Amino acid sequence: MAVARERLSTAQATVQPGALLQTIGLTKSFGGLAAVQNIDFHISPGEIVGVIGPNGAGKSTFFNLITGLYKPTRGRILVAGQDVTGKRPDILLRAGVARTFQNIRLFQNMTVLDNVLVGYHTRLKSRLVGDILKLPPTRREEREAERRAFEVLRLFDDRLVPHSYELARNLAYADRRLLEIARALASSPKLLLLDEPTVGMNPAETENAIRIIAKIRSADLAIILIEHKLNVVMGMSNRVVVLDYGEKIAEGTPREVQTNEKVIEAYLGRKAAAQAAAMLDRRDALEEAGQ
Ligand SMILES: Nc1ncnc2c1ncn2[C@@H]1O[C@H](COP(=O)(O)OP(=O)(O)OP(=O)(O)O)[C@@H](O)[C@H]1O
Ligand SMILES: [Mg+2]
Repeated sequence: MAVARERLSTAQATVQPGALLQTIGLTKSFGGLAAVQNIDFHISPGEIVGVIGPNGAGKSTFFNLITGLYKPTRGRILVAGQDVTGKRPDILLRAGVARTFQNIRLFQNMTVLDNVLVGYHTRLKSRLVGDILKLPPTRREEREAERRAFEVLRLFDDRLVPHSYELARNLAYADRRLLEIARALASSPKLLLLDEPTVGMNPAETENAIRIIAKIRSADLAIILIEHKLNVVMGMSNRVVVLDYGEKIAEGTPREVQTNEKVIEAYLGRKAAAQAAAMLDRRDALEEAGQ
């Protein structure tokens, strides 16, 4: 009965007009383990959607699927209405989907600026043709690339610009995480996927990262945020999706999700739920007070 209902819901999931990214019945199995099961998901331009769930719930696997690193076992992925299921990561990047990784993946022995330039060049079309023909980039292309790279670095206040010509590995840990975001942004994505961007940061660094992420979100940039810190995800997201054992067990506004019984049982725990509710009340009070 439950299975029949599940199949029906997948069959009924239709293409959402206006969605930047949509998945329909997205599933990934590793042998007997269904790491991601039958996920219907959508995000619109300018939205921030939080993805939460216990360790091993399938959050990073979901990102690996929608960036083309893993091929789905079943289901479909649409970017701006185009079916991109099973496409390679470079195709998805060019379609506007960029990401950071749960574990930092930078070119540690390259400068901060060069790391951002790598992000930029992944989408520069004439450069791609140049690569094929083995032509060096033109001076104009190089100047334009640097201009864009510094434009991105400046979004991070004074965290990255002063270190532009230092090696990535010499940055403080929190700044290396920010550099990952900068590199992803340099490809001018429409959708940015952040996999635990504040993990390992202290409260002050976390606060700073939140402010920067809020600043880079725009009408043209949607963000999916995987995050274990509830105050971060509840405070930033327009909508929250909850995964557990690969399945979507809840979806809604931060308030809806943190009062959902299934979510409390699977993840939040009653104490954390109370803390999140108090945080939302404070935010509402501040908003009412016009701050
Ligand atoms: N390449 C793989 N091969 C086999 N199993 C995998 C692979 N990648 C992920 N898994 C398994 O899939 C499940 C989901 O893992 P995933 O990394 O997506 O979880 P997560 O929600 O990101 O967890 P965390 O919060 O700890 O980062 C886990 O059981 C994991 O062991
Ligand atoms: Mg993960």
